[in-house]
Amino acid sequence: MHDARNDRTTSARAAVRPLDDDLGDLPTAVDAPQADQTTGDRLAFLLGFVRDPSGVGSVVPSSHRLERRLVRNARIGEARTVVELGPGTGGTTRAFLRAMSPQARLLSIELDPVFHARLARTVRDPRHFAECGSAERIAEMLAVRRLPAPDAIVSGIPFSTMPQDIGERIAAEVAAVLAPGGRFVAYQVRPRVAEFTSPHLGTPKFEWEAWNIPPMRVFTWVKPTADGTRRP
Ligand SMILES: C[S@@+](CC[C@H](N)C(=O)[O-])C[C@H]1O[C@@H](n2cnc3c(N)ncnc32)[C@H](O)[C@@H]1O
Repeated sequence: MHDARNDRTTSARAAVRPLDDDLGDLPTAVDAPQADQTTGDRLAFLLGFVRDPSGVGSVVPSSHRLERRLVRNARIGEARTVVELGPGTGGTTRAFLRAMSPQARLLSIELDPVFHARLARTVRDPRHFAECGSAERIAEMLAVRRLPAPDAIVSGIPFSTMPQDIGERIAAEVAAVLAPGGRFVAYQVRPRVAEFTSPHLGTPKFEWEAWNIPPMRVFTWVKPTADGTRRP
């Protein structure tokens, strides 16, 4: 259904704020849902944290600075298939959709059914497929949606609080489904994700994003191609 409220807020924002340079030329930005987290998003996120503190892992959604770093590191603008693990209330999801080409596809996988239902209702874009379940099932969910191997997988799920076997399964699944030369970007409070992922994908690039509550570690892995090379 056409949402006139989105039109109003999008054009109001366009009047007061230029597009971010590092998101590049955004062909679908005008049609994209409102980018800013609303008060409703923030409240929904906080309630999600109250429901499951260790599963959600944060009391507020990611900052725009963090969103932009994820877009850059995962090279979302060049990707044909993107997978997001743990979209929550969808701020990161919208940032990816704004940066993606019109032909690209985004599969988001969210464990919390309340977040999933909200996401399916609020992030309406024909390039976006929302699935409810655990990130352990990426391959199955890609197959259901008939999507090819992803060029980029971005994860905010809290590896530091999950049981060892689940963390190991998700990391193995990420490494298996990622296209050769593809990127896995994980933003985390603690570094445990590297224990699970580095045995499969090698040493990551590591950065801090200080402009976030709380400050986040951002890990970026590049899956080697068949001849063993990694794109810079
Ligand atoms: C820190 S929040 C990130 C939310 C959002 N991407 C953001 O940056 O604002 C982590 C999200 O991961 C979800 N999650 C936790 N474990 C998961 C799993 N095994 N599979 C899929 N999603 C999971 C949580 O429900 C929560 O929505």
